[in-house]
Amino acid sequence: MTDAQSRSFPHRHLLGISDLDAADIVQILDLGDTFLEIGERPIKKVPTLRGRTVINLFFENSTRTRTSFEIAAKRMSADTINISASSSSTTKGETLIDTGRNLDAMRPDVVVVRHSFGGAPHVLARHIDAAVVNAGDGQHEHPTQALLDAATIRRHKGKVDGLEVAIVGDLAHSRVARSNLLCLTKLGARVRLCAPWTLVPRGIELIGGDLTRERTRITTRLEEALDGADVVMMLRVQSERTGGEAPRFANTREFSRQYGLSLRTLDYARRDAIVMHPGPINRGVEMAPEVADGERAVILEQVTWGVAVRMAVLYLLGGGRAEAAIHAGA
Ligand code: CP
Repeated sequence: MTDAQSRSFPHRHLLGISDLDAADIVQILDLGDTFLEIGERPIKKVPTLRGRTVINLFFENSTRTRTSFEIAAKRMSADTINISASSSSTTKGETLIDTGRNLDAMRPDVVVVRHSFGGAPHVLARHIDAAVVNAGDGQHEHPTQALLDAATIRRHKGKVDGLEVAIVGDLAHSRVARSNLLCLTKLGARVRLCAPWTLVPRGIELIGGDLTRERTRITTRLEEALDGADVVMMLRVQSERTGGEAPRFANTREFSRQYGLSLRTLDYARRDAIVMHPGPINRGVEMAPEVADGERAVILEQVTWGVAVRMAVLYLLGGGRAEAAIHAGA
């Protein structure tokens, strides 16, 4: 049994990176390291969560997160059920709490929830017995995205501590930016946040108190953000969250010209810098296709790590059996 498997995880739910300390994060990443290899086997299944039930409750669209939670659960032999907003009784007026309590009455072990309302997973966690995992709540947090990003960085750079990470794009609407800012600074990185002022939320550098205040630099200049960066993380403009708002930049072409990552602007970063994106990418807007498909991009590796890291989270919260964590025959 590894240290990551034997350490008692001190949380019932995973609601945000804000609740985790560096040791919790490292435990999840170390477990993710051990689970990654299961995806390379011909038979991609271990009995770790046999008999457990995982419900994916998604009130917002998702390709990567929902699928990878389902694959993660299935690779660990849990029973999985997927519920989307359009197929749930919330369309008939049922509240989130009532939906949660009814699902809980069927005795799932873990409920993975994505919702457009920031704080929805926290509400569920107060009303149900199952462990709750936040799969993205509004503009608040997306903790497993930050964890899989940290795992990807760690694999490529050997560490996170001491790295310079540029996070560029629509900071205003990005739960990925918030979770990454918290996660990366807890692991010792410095973060440059870059966007037009209209897309920089006031006080974002304070979300983790003194730690994020001391380790965050905000700039509106892409070249300054990229200069000497070890990691470049690009964000999509989330137009689905801007309904009814005044425009925050002149037009997409102008935004792309100033903040899009091209082969030319990528030259400001370190020669060995890696390029990341949580997806979905708007090619030609925040990132040129030749960068997205280039040799420095690790975007699809992020997706692969997503399964391993989510296996780690389900293992810790779903009561996984350590002796059966790796060995298919256990
Ligand atoms: N990165 C991410 O959350 O992607 P999905 O919206 O496809 O889940």
